[in-house]
Amino acid sequence: MVKVLKDKCILVGVSGGIAAYKAAELVRQLIAQEARPQVVMTRSATEFIGPLTLETLSGTPVRTALFGPAAVPLEHISLGQQVDALVLAPATANLIGKLAAGIGDDLLTTIVLAATRPVLICPAMNVKMYDNPIVQDNLGRLRQAGFHVLSPAAGALACGAAGWGRLPDPVDIVEELAVLLTPQDLQGCEIMVTAGPTHEDFDPVRFLTNRSTGKMGYALARVARRRGARVRLVSGPSALPSPAGVERLMVRTALEMQEMVMEHFPHTDVVLMAAAVSDYRPASFVGTKIKRGGEEMILRLSHNPDILAELGKQKTRQILVGFAAETDDLQTHARDKLKGKNLDLIVANEVNRADSGFAVDTNEVTLIHRDGQVIPLPLLPKEEVADRVLDWVATVWPGNRAERIHG
Ligand code: C5P
Repeated sequence: MVKVLKDKCILVGVSGGIAAYKAAELVRQLIAQEARPQVVMTRSATEFIGPLTLETLSGTPVRTALFGPAAVPLEHISLGQQVDALVLAPATANLIGKLAAGIGDDLLTTIVLAATRPVLICPAMNVKMYDNPIVQDNLGRLRQAGFHVLSPAAGALACGAAGWGRLPDPVDIVEELAVLLTPQDLQGCEIMVTAGPTHEDFDPVRFLTNRSTGKMGYALARVARRRGARVRLVSGPSALPSPAGVERLMVRTALEMQEMVMEHFPHTDVVLMAAAVSDYRPASFVGTKIKRGGEEMILRLSHNPDILAELGKQKTRQILVGFAAETDDLQTHARDKLKGKNLDLIVANEVNRADSGFAVDTNEVTLIHRDGQVIPLPLLPKEEVADRVLDWVATVWPGNRAERIHG
């Protein structure tokens, strides 16, 4: 993740449910993002996990007391105003109920009620408890009052039941915090990202493909969503997990990708075509596994449609961003593609370097604009490359409110 959370002070409120042990992993993830977590536990949370664990992981004393020798005067007011954001994970039905009723009877509830910074509530409890209309009502009231609620994940629960109620993966909680702390300059923007390779079958077990893993496209999808866009990710086969809050549509072949992209194109504002679409597919598909035999085997290939070039012909208001993976004469080839496919921006990168291009977490790219501007970027993590591409999208997208106010 781009270090959105770097140096950000995050108050982690832990209440007393079995998922309290996962707060340890959440704190670890925050430290990995170079954030500064400050843990506050309810009394019952300390029954589930020792404060020493969270104190050691966060590197800061854990607060538990409103009164007594461990209490710091006025901290119940100041903490929720000094930090950058608050996250309640897990938030029990009890904690949710108290906050919804405006009850502040311990350190955590008083801090949250007095907080002036964004609060992310992560409910985690038994599915029946979560489904209880009273709990749902309380969550509704908290949402209305401006609290952010991250819905629990579904799956096996500690009580043996299955259903909604699991605390989401700490990585997803951290991503949600990143959303809260990122300016929403792409709010209202419908972005379609394509990612990954395509698989072009020539018999039931064999296919042609390329070295793309989807990392650049997935980073674009994650960052666009973090900046407020509504993101649809059309992905070729990829082992990467679906980014939180993104609608992922899996496809396999170039033809399937074409169909999916065309279906959604009319209601899309921006297309980021990061997929490494196979230019060719086997001319015929053999229904049974091809047997070994003969001297050599000749595989005939047919052209796949150029999806992006097709979009370039059809576009009305859409902003089109292409990606050019080149092994030689980077700028000339990229510029030809920008013109040939009627694009607004092309992101060009050399793919025969070990630290840039396919299957790595970094990329060194040059942005070439339709108006002739050329911006070479240094070697950056793919999420930062994504942010730079989206910075440009945000300036040209007419729906950007910041633009409208200033322009
Ligand atoms: O393959 P090429 O270098 O021309 O790819 C440039 C851009 O065109 C990329 O954004 C890629 O996703 C897109 N493309 C496509 N359909 C193809 C080949 C490439 O949309 N068949």
